[in-house]
Amino acid sequence: MPAGYTATIAERNSFGCSVELVLETPRGFEASPGQFVHVLCGGDGRILRRPFSVSVSHNGGLALLVRPVGEGSRWLCSREVGEELDFLGPLGRGFNINETRENVLIAGGAGIAPLRFLAMEMRKRGLRTLLCWGMDGGEDFGRLPDIIAEESGLYVSTRDGKRGFRGSVLELLDALEVDRNAAFYACGPREMLADLVRGLGDGELERTQVSVEERMACGVGACRGCAVPSARPGAPYLTACREGPVFFAHELDWERM
Ligand SMILES: Cc1cc2nc3c(=O)[nH]c(=O)nc-3n(C[C@H](O)[C@H](O)[C@H](O)COP(=O)(O)OP(=O)(O)OC[C@H]3O[C@@H](n4cnc5c(N)ncnc54)[C@H](O)[C@@H]3O)c2cc1C
Ligand code: FES
Repeated sequence: MPAGYTATIAERNSFGCSVELVLETPRGFEASPGQFVHVLCGGDGRILRRPFSVSVSHNGGLALLVRPVGEGSRWLCSREVGEELDFLGPLGRGFNINETRENVLIAGGAGIAPLRFLAMEMRKRGLRTLLCWGMDGGEDFGRLPDIIAEESGLYVSTRDGKRGFRGSVLELLDALEVDRNAAFYACGPREMLADLVRGLGDGELERTQVSVEERMACGVGACRGCAVPSARPGAPYLTACREGPVFFAHELDWERM
């Protein structure tokens, strides 16, 4: 069983319509980039926990970046400093860091949460790292892009062209002419991941990791509600919560995704 924790919210920051909650890291809690926590989002019949990637704040503290899309995430966004959160974790398989190649990190929307953590870890190890973040509008995440740009170096793209490169994050990658021998790490909407994978050759698939954001129930591999189509022989489906959420691109069957 994963460990359960109660943590106090030490800081709350609004970034556009998203909210960063910085938690007092509970004793014994240690996560690697790409892992997630399963958070109890209030009562009112919401008995199923909601998954959120472990991220980090500007001072390295345990943080969650929450985009309000439904009842649970809206409840989380309305929490205040001093309140407590109940969560399980860290859960799932995180990113496998390639120490020999250039590392190219590709985030879409709230997919920046685990990649910010990953970029910080790579920088700590002195690895060559390029972080790219695509969002719809220039105001979507307030001043968060400026904060991340200071800690890691960041290329931003926006669909409305109000910040950084105008276009998608994949068009930004083309414009940057990134090294095709790099290792790639991506987290974002499923269409973005599928477009990325479609553009990759065989050799590149094996050095590309994607974090998939499936809907989850138990979060620990018991209900199979988060199954994703597998390309592994003998395993038609893999659980995003336990065998993922991070997969190498060649482990998934993208035709059936
Ligand atoms: C491993 C993992 C890590 C995640 N990390 C983050 C994060 O760091 N920040 C963040 O803001 N969100 C993250 N998500 C997505 C987040 O879990 C969902 O937005 C949340 O569970 C929605 O719950 P809700 O009650 O607000 O919405 P619901 O009322 O349950 O749904 C509202 C809408 O959101 C869609 N939705 C619900 N769950 C998901 C999901 N898991 N993925 C995509 N769409 C969903 C529904 O289809 C519906 O359209 C992550 C998801 C996973 C699986
Ligand atoms: S959410 Fe239950 S198996 Fe993944």
